[in-house]
Amino acid sequence: MKILAFETSCDDTGVAIVENGTRVLANVKHSQVEHSVWGGVVPEIAARLHAERWRTVLKECLAQLSCTIDDVDALAVTAGPGLQTSLLVGTTAASFLSLLTPKKLIPVQHIAGHIASVALERPEFQNPSVRHGGHLPLQRGAFPALTLVASGGHTEFYRIEDFAHVQKVGQTIDDASGEAFDKVAKMLKLGYPGGPLVSAQAEKGDGTAFDLPRPLLAKDSLDFSFSGVKAAIYRIVAETAPSQRQSEKFIADVCASFEQCVVDIFLKKLDRALDRFPECRAVHFVGGVSANKRLRAEIEKFCEKNNVQFYTTKKFEYSTDNAAMIGAAAYFAYQKHPDIAQVQFVDANPGLGIVRE
Ligand code: KG4
Ligand code: ZN
Repeated sequence: MKILAFETSCDDTGVAIVENGTRVLANVKHSQVEHSVWGGVVPEIAARLHAERWRTVLKECLAQLSCTIDDVDALAVTAGPGLQTSLLVGTTAASFLSLLTPKKLIPVQHIAGHIASVALERPEFQNPSVRHGGHLPLQRGAFPALTLVASGGHTEFYRIEDFAHVQKVGQTIDDASGEAFDKVAKMLKLGYPGGPLVSAQAEKGDGTAFDLPRPLLAKDSLDFSFSGVKAAIYRIVAETAPSQRQSEKFIADVCASFEQCVVDIFLKKLDRALDRFPECRAVHFVGGVSANKRLRAEIEKFCEKNNVQFYTTKKFEYSTDNAAMIGAAAYFAYQKHPDIAQVQFVDANPGLGIVRE
């Protein structure tokens, strides 16, 4: 089953074609660099740029395969959560394409997309009924799994039976981890999006240079909190002489200390989550922050030590927002609940939660 998927929930305009939830036939994305001067995403600008660019991105996606919309079996679109007007561009475009063709349209919850992103380019995750010759069987113990979603808007833990059957078991009580990366970058005047910039600086710094708080570690909880860490860095920057704030060493040390803090928080919470759900013998790490090499390496090491399987996205481009993951999530959801497909208008719902547990 080939699905043409749209993603416009924030500042990336994505269109992709994915077969059976795992095979990425085309994945085109336009990232809006225009926000960097503002130090964060400006919703009105984001929506306008989606409206200007979605047709070009769609055309490029179809051109890569020399195909038309007639060649796909269904459409999918991110319905929420996200920025209202950005979501509206995607849902309106996909809804009218669905009505005109007419093809089924599968609404996808954005976080369900991130959760399904580990299946991309892993044929072993295909539904057994369509798995064919040469494909590896799914490793025993791959499900149930613990999924850590770390993105710009969300930091959440899920216990997943499979990609269409997920239960939230922990979440941030304030800022998301990606948002904290972005704010640290802003305080240090590094630019936006902050994650990759902070991470590049961290490689050159000393992770023990500054003593940052590790909130909620003592409490027996799977929730996260990053606002205290952010405030601590704000104080460090404010109390440092302006001339020294620009120094390479200061910037690198703050970034390394912050990254080390996120590593410690994630590992401690993963440890606790595995204790609480001992039947989970796999950890999935997804979302924009999972593009962080250090975090990937540390979580992988932790999983090896604890004898659990580790999965993250096959490519960095599947960690940050993209339409391929929406095509994957749509496939897995449709396999389980064919009634979710529609040939009618899909509404944007900025507060959409994961409804099927
Ligand atoms: O998943 P995503 O593309 O969008 C949301 O759903 O929010 O995540 C974007 C977030 C941004 O906060 C960005 O700074 C962060 O992911 N990010 C990273 C890295 N690459 C992107 N954070 C840490 N290290 C990275 N290499
Ligand atoms: Zn996202």
